[in-house]
This record gives sequence, C-alpha cells and structure tokens, in this order.
Amino acid sequence: MTTLLVIGAGQMGSGIAETAIWAGWQVYLTDVASESLNRGVAGIEKRLARRGEKNPADGPRVAAARQRLTPLPPGSTWPAVDLAVEAIIEEETAKRELMETLDQALPDAAILASNTSSISITRLARATRRPDRVIGMHFMNPVPVMELVEVIEGAETSPETTRRVMAWAEELGKTPVPVKDYPGFIANRILMPMINEAIFALQEGVATPEAIDTIMKLGMRHPMGPLQLADFIGLDTCLAILEVLYRGFGDPKYRPAPLLRQMVDAGHWGRKTGRGFYTYP
Ligand code: CAA
Repeated sequence: MTTLLVIGAGQMGSGIAETAIWAGWQVYLTDVASESLNRGVAGIEKRLARRGEKNPADGPRVAAARQRLTPLPPGSTWPAVDLAVEAIIEEETAKRELMETLDQALPDAAILASNTSSISITRLARATRRPDRVIGMHFMNPVPVMELVEVIEGAETSPETTRRVMAWAEELGKTPVPVKDYPGFIANRILMPMINEAIFALQEGVATPEAIDTIMKLGMRHPMGPLQLADFIGLDTCLAILEVLYRGFGDPKYRPAPLLRQMVDAGHWGRKTGRGFYTYP
C-alpha cells in the first residue's frame, strides 16, 4: 500500500488526503497549527459522510477510508513514507525550509512533491540533497472533483521520479500531465492572464462582475466566470501567481491589475475572507 504524508491541512492538503484515502492509500496529514489540522480532518469526515449518504453501497469503503487517515499533531515525528506532498502557504522561503526538513527526516527513497501553483521546482529542489527526487504535483481545487494533476519536472528531476509520480497520480484516479518548470507552468500561465483581464475590464467599468462572469459562463461554457473563480482560488493567491509570471517573463502583459492589488491590500481575498468580487456568508 502506498504511504503518503501531506503537509498542510488547508483546502488543497485536505483534498489531497481525502483523494488518497479514498484510493486506498495510507495517509498521514499534518499542519503547523492544530486548529487547521482539526478543521481539515473535520472537512474530510464531512465529505466522506456525504459520499456514504449519496451512495449507501459505498458505506464499507467510507469506513475503510476513514481508518486509513492518521492526523499527526504539530511536532509529531513523521513516518517513513513513499511520497510526501507539501501544500503549505504559497511562499518560497517557507516551502524551501520545509523541503530541507523533509529531506532530513524522510528515507532516501522517498519522493518529495510540492503542490505549488507557480514556485520554481528547480529552486525548491536545491534545498534538498535529492533534487532528482523532487517534483511538482499541482492538484486543482476542489481536489476530489478535478481530474488534472499538472506534474512539474524540475531541472534535476529524474525520469524515474516522473514515471512513478505519473503512475501514482493515475492510482488516485487523476490524469497527470507532465510539463517543464517554467513560470506559471501551463495551467496558471493561461488561466491567470484571463482572470487578470477580467479584473482590468471591471476596473475600466466595461461591465459588472455579474455580467463578466455570465458572459464567460454562457458564452464559453466555463463552469465559473473568471471573477467568481478568482474569489474561489483566493485573490491573494491570484496576485502571487501573477507576480511570479510578471517577474519570471519580465513582460508587461502579466502586470497584475491595480484593482486586484488594492483588493488584496484591503483584505478582500475572496471566499476565504467572506468578501472578494462577491460577498459570502
Ligand atoms: N470538495 C469536494 N467536492 C466538491 C467540492 C469541494 N470543495 N465542491 C463541489 N464538490 C462536488 C459536489 O459535492 C458535487 O458532487 P455530486 O454531483 O457528486 O454531488 C459536484 O462537485 C458538483 O458540485 P455542485 O453541484 O455543488 O456545483 P457545481 O456543479 O457548480 O460544481 C465546481 C462546483 C466543481 C467547483 C465547478 O463550479 C467547477 O468546476 N468550477 C471550476 C473549478 C476550477 O476551475 N478549478 C481550478 C481552479 S485553479 C486551481 O485550482 C489551480 C491554481 O493553481 C490556482
């Protein structure tokens, strides 16, 4: 049975843990804060219960999945796992420090993956003594629903590491797609300029948020409009990714819209703070 350590029990980390226990893996979930860990575990419990309600035949699978989740309170010793996926805050220094700690704590054979949406895998790998076994596994939100895993190969990632991670992603029921380590990889290099353009259009008074989102939902069959999606991802995250694109390419086409920056400065980060382009209860 594949063993997985997930560090960071937020939306992404708890979604990854849930997906993995559902696929039959033994999963250890941890976080620096007990409250976040408890919230993450409670969310998993709730969604597992919902799976059981929706499909009563899945009852035994739900019970077995629950057994395969081990929450590790902050400060616990990490078990010797096959794969570690970090899903902590999107901050390079924090991720580099974590990579270094994981490298020291886990067996040599373990693969260290980052769920980063835009930070260079090559740079994260340099914090370890095993850059050939460091890789990006970029899951999409909500993880249990979305099929894609963008697999990012750093400059030193070995073909064997990529092969194993692609196979693992398939075991999780996902479709892995390999890409090179380049600013924004592919998903966000294409998604974020669209979101940014929607914010520019709003800032210029071309249309209301509802109008912009309706046009993209009905006109392009997107499940969510770009402003609703930005709220869902988090405006702070959108800004951080745009900054990576802007710095990485040095091209003004990636400059973040001033309105986005202002909203982040004001603390309106979308769904997670209750207010973004829309308000949330
Ligand atoms: N966790 C688990 N399951 C969830 C969920 C969550 N957070 N949110 C919704 N679901 C499930 C629901 O339970 C439901 O399942 P059933 O049909 O089996 O009951 C299913 O998803 C559909 O949900 P709803 O009917 O409530 O709503 P919907 O049809 O509008 O779908 C959505 C919700 C799947 C989120 C859809 O709106 C969607 O696909 N939105 C776009 C999501 C997207 O683009 N994600 C990528 C963001 S970018 C990213 O993640 C990467 C990055 O680096 C920024």
